[in-house]
Order: sequence, then structure tokens, then C-alpha cells
Amino acid sequence: MAILPIYKYPHTILRQRAKKIHNIDKSIQKLVDDMMDTLQNSGGVGLAANQIGVLKRLIVIQLPEDEEPTAYINPEIIHREGKREVQEGCLSIPGYYGTITRSMWIKAKGMDRKSRIMKITAEGLLSQIIEHEIDHINGILYIDHLNSHEDLIKESSEIPASTS
Ligand code: NI
Repeated sequence: MAILPIYKYPHTILRQRAKKIHNIDKSIQKLVDDMMDTLQNSGGVGLAANQIGVLKRLIVIQLPEDEEPTAYINPEIIHREGKREVQEGCLSIPGYYGTITRSMWIKAKGMDRKSRIMKITAEGLLSQIIEHEIDHINGILYIDHLNSHEDLIKESSEIPASTS
């Protein structure tokens, strides 16, 4: 178990595309455990491996109602439907949140830590987090989706809906 430091914008690793995981070995299991610990310690809802300095296609997500995080290995979005405005934050861009457009719902696939294929249809917050985390492993940040600088807001007392 380890809580790892989270890399902050504008660190260049956040702008790099992460590489596919071919073998879910002991080192990947440790990485999953460490990312879960780091996410739970952060108070966020999702974390991508780039954010702890590792260029592998691995994300972990924990919705507020979940007892523990879920790991998605080599996740990809296979279908997106609709558009909606959301408020979003990022653990790598502390102190800000922004209003951007995300999908109404998505279909995604990936593998769990036991190498089982996962296919999910997600809407609401889960859909938003999956899009945010898969952006991370492609080197994309939510601020790239802002329509204008005015849509980026300095955090005051209001807590963003999603920080990941
Ligand atoms: Ni993020």
C-alpha cells in the first residue's frame, strides 16, 4: 500500500499518451493497489496512471456511493451519445473547476485486474468520470474542452461535482 504524489499541471507527463498494458502481472497489481490508495486519500472520484507519473493505460474510479474503487485496464469508449453541460475538476489542476460539454451516456470496454473483459453502459457522473480518465491516458485535460476562459472558475466555497 502506498499513497503516491499526484503530478500537477503543467507537468508534461499529463500531455503524453499512455501505453497499452499487455500483461497484468504483479507490478500492475501493485500499481492498481497504489492508485486505489492514492485516489481514496485524495477525496477525488477518479485517477489515471499518468497522474502518478506512469504512462500505462490504467484508471481507477470510485463513485461517492461505492465502498471501494474499480480499476479499468486499457479502457476505451466504444460509443458516445448526446451532449450535456457539466462542472468538472481535476486532481492535477487543484483550485479550479470548469464548465464543459460531455456525453449524455457512453459505452466503454476494458479489462478488470483479473484480466476479465468489462463492458459497461454508463450515464451521469460515471459516464463523465470515464470520459475524463480516458482523456487523461490520451494526454488530454478537461481544460482543453473549455469554450472560453470564462468557463474556468477559481474554486471558492463551491465544491465541483467531479474531481478526478
Ligand atoms: Ni483529472
